[in-house]
Amino acid sequence: MTTDPALPATWPGYAKSLRRLLLEFNRQQKATRKIDLIDPRLADYFLSTWAAKAREDQWPPLTARNGQPWTTWLVMGGRGAGKTRTGAEWVRGLALGEPDFSAAPVGRIALIAETAADARDVMVEGVSGILSVHKNFERPDWQPSRRRLEWKNGAVAQIFSAEDPESLRGPQFECAWLDEFAKWRHAEETFNMLQFGLRLGTHPRQLVTTTPRPIPLLRKFMDDPHVAVSHAATVRNAENLAPGFLERMIARYAGTRLGRQEIDGQIIEERSDALWSRAMIEAARCDVTPPLKRIAVAIDPPASSSHRADNCGLVAAGIDADGFVYVLEDASLAAARPQKWARAAIALYEKYQADSLVAEVNQGGEMVEAVIREADPNVPVTQVRATRGKYLRAAPVAQLYEQGRVKHARPFPQLEDEMCAFGPEGMPGSRSPDRLDALVWAVTALALSKKHAEPRLRRL
Ligand SMILES: Nc1ncnc2c1ncn2[C@@H]1O[C@H](COP(=O)(O)OP(=O)(O)OP(=O)(O)O)[C@@H](O)[C@H]1O
Ligand SMILES: [Mg+2]
Repeated sequence: MTTDPALPATWPGYAKSLRRLLLEFNRQQKATRKIDLIDPRLADYFLSTWAAKAREDQWPPLTARNGQPWTTWLVMGGRGAGKTRTGAEWVRGLALGEPDFSAAPVGRIALIAETAADARDVMVEGVSGILSVHKNFERPDWQPSRRRLEWKNGAVAQIFSAEDPESLRGPQFECAWLDEFAKWRHAEETFNMLQFGLRLGTHPRQLVTTTPRPIPLLRKFMDDPHVAVSHAATVRNAENLAPGFLERMIARYAGTRLGRQEIDGQIIEERSDALWSRAMIEAARCDVTPPLKRIAVAIDPPASSSHRADNCGLVAAGIDADGFVYVLEDASLAAARPQKWARAAIALYEKYQADSLVAEVNQGGEMVEAVIREADPNVPVTQVRATRGKYLRAAPVAQLYEQGRVKHARPFPQLEDEMCAFGPEGMPGSRSPDRLDALVWAVTALALSKKHAEPRLRRL
């Protein structure tokens, strides 16, 4: 067992060397084309199992950092690093009672995702989800309407959404898998609720898999010696990712603070000079959106008017009768051509029956309105021109947040990351804060623009 607190002990020594031996044996066999030493089907079978494929950080640690058995295992990784696969294989191992995972089959398992759709589409039915990591003969019966997986041995896993912490009140579990935890709307509440129900069996335990974001509970896990922590950067899973994925991620994030989060899978600390802090954003969360008086969709179109695909900020927000602004949706697009972003902007406008479509025009010139008009001549486009730098433009919006006058109707992880990374020199790595720009235009149009300001809405 390792004594290095940063590296939880995982594979017992004999398993490690057996695995190394088999991998090496397979490599040599392939190299020399000698297949008579071992039945090739047996070698193939072994090498297709998770025990032969899992990386160190994907295999359940034996102990937490304090040397004791863990009850919480935190797996942090970059995008596509293999987090979901780790969770799905862990659940399989528990439900089937595979000796590396559990001494006996675990009968009651909770699966919790950001939304019910994520639990279904990613954790259960996804490419690296639970159904896909089972062989045909062992695969559990999936009953979507009952939100339940049932294995032949009677083990049951139930899916839950972090949007509804109350649904965890009552049921009891032996184990739980929590995917993309740092994106959850009610992370703390859902987690606490789960802890009450995690009380069956001799050793209740939970696995948290997530791309890290500096939310308080994640920091707490990282500081807690009772928690086992594993970690992987996206590059470690390069050979299993779709061609081009890693290159695109690197082109977008390399050398930036967000890259440390999205590619390296590390928690990034707050920038002291950022306009927004995580605490301000946490304080802006709300569950209920009141009736809104006016709704604006803002678009920060790609800088170039050429037909090159580029990122486009697209945000919907509304203002209520008391002058509180509610950010409703971040529908920003990566690598979109003009027709695509124009269609997306109009769709968002229609979805919320917005009053105006606010478009920044200084960069794309008249092109922006023309492109939108071409897609739909009836959408009223309000053109806005940046007369001040991005930071000065964003500062009054940040101030509204500080006054508690802007609310987020749900979490917007990418937008919120941009907000917290944006300082006086803009974004690190000369990236353009597309989402943030669109947010600033929407909030400005609703609450700060003289043209729209209605005295009775103002409380200042
Ligand atoms: N050790 C491994 N061996 C083989 N394939 C793997 C391994 N780990 C992960 N994969 C595969 O890599 C792909 C990405 O993995 P996965 O979906 O688990 O990543 P993720 O970190 O959850 O990604 P995201 O950030 O998109 O949620 C999947 O096809 C998965 O099956
Ligand atoms: Mg995943």
